[in-house]
Amino acid sequence: MTDIRDTVLLASGFHAPVAGEIDVLEDVLIDVDADGVIRSVVRPGDAEYDTLKTQAVDEGRLERLPEGSYLLPGFVDCHVHAPQYPQLGTALDVPLEVWLQKYTFPLEARYADIAFARRAYSLLVEDLIANGTTTALYFATVHQDATRVLVDTCLEKGQRALIGKVAMDNPDSCPDYYRDASSDEAIDGTRALIDYVRAHPDNKTRRVNPVVTPRFIPSCTDATLEGLGALAGECGCHVQTHCSESDWEHGYVLKRHGMTDTESLDRFGLLGRHTMLAHSNLLTSSDMEQIRVREAAVAHCPLSNAYFAGAVFPLRAALEKGLHVGLGTDISGGPSASMLENCRAAITVSRMLESGVDPERPANLRASGTSARVDFRIAFHIATVGGARALDLPVGQFAPGYRFDAVVVDTRAPQGSMRLWEEFDQGDGILQKIVFTASKANIADVWVDGMQVSTRRH
Ligand code: GUN
Ligand code: FE
Repeated sequence: MTDIRDTVLLASGFHAPVAGEIDVLEDVLIDVDADGVIRSVVRPGDAEYDTLKTQAVDEGRLERLPEGSYLLPGFVDCHVHAPQYPQLGTALDVPLEVWLQKYTFPLEARYADIAFARRAYSLLVEDLIANGTTTALYFATVHQDATRVLVDTCLEKGQRALIGKVAMDNPDSCPDYYRDASSDEAIDGTRALIDYVRAHPDNKTRRVNPVVTPRFIPSCTDATLEGLGALAGECGCHVQTHCSESDWEHGYVLKRHGMTDTESLDRFGLLGRHTMLAHSNLLTSSDMEQIRVREAAVAHCPLSNAYFAGAVFPLRAALEKGLHVGLGTDISGGPSASMLENCRAAITVSRMLESGVDPERPANLRASGTSARVDFRIAFHIATVGGARALDLPVGQFAPGYRFDAVVVDTRAPQGSMRLWEEFDQGDGILQKIVFTASKANIADVWVDGMQVSTRRH
């Protein structure tokens, strides 16, 4: 393939603008303008279909997907710790509060070394793009220079990204070797990063955005939380943090602030339309209501939650209440960088939440008592449109005005992990198989803003 700019793409594929529904796109024409914005999506049978197709052929700007290839919106990963990539798939033997001190802070501290940051971030961004992640919401580290390297890397490699310098200044919970030296340093450093991203000469279209990033309440002093809330309001930035993730963390905030994470973040001005709350497993029903009222969002991290949370986020209940929800890998709290694998995990853990898991209990006492299950349609929705809406970005679906951020799944890739059967697999059943069985080797092409950022075709 090639760039899909000023091009009409003839493709079949899937997107999920409505939660729980799959819109099957069959031989549609997607007209993309020179900036990578979708002008129109025209279906066979629409009045302008033949004219647009003929015209595109005449002008030499029609591209066709090969047989067996399907177009999907690119994945929107709503929670990634970029510096933790080197420990992906390791270090999950201890609880969160031990994991941070024993493994994670020492690793993140290494990003004081710019050469190391460059090497690690380069591999991460390339690998995520090749996995089909076209947008990522990143926690970086406390370091100003290394965080700038991550910004530069995303701009250079073409990934849409939202990036925060991590703010963590509380000497009671952060080690001397790895924290902001003061509240002023945490806040001024955040402001400096915002300025760097917005003024970056290669970021005229704002494909990379800055994020106010208090790590979580335990790692920040009240002065920092207050200052960052004011800064977020002033700059109109996104905000990201961890919220009510585990019993230890949830209990810590109840003890220190006498209220839940959600209530506390709200009073600091950190809960708004552009806030992403990672995990949020232990929300009360009034927390959920407050998140809905503020139009904030939750990043559901199903794999990570299996290791650190001791609970399953009630995804279905949250969606039914009208919360914005996206999907997150939580690299490296979750041991997979793949959004497809996290889709599967979201489905699997929802079934376990519904049925319960303790074989010692009889089935009726084992079950959670509510319908908690979600299917591939919901998982795919939150992995694409859900995350995009949560972040208020014009991506995640194929519609006029949206940016062309997309992946092609080659279901016939020889090194891939899936097989389609003409006599068995049809309609959205094909997407179901993609969600459950496709892997990186099946991701043939990836575009951001209509620009090709990865390909496996030769
Ligand atoms: N809470 C504070 N920091 C972290 C982190 O790096 N990962 C996870 N999963 N939770 C956190
Ligand atoms: Fe996290």
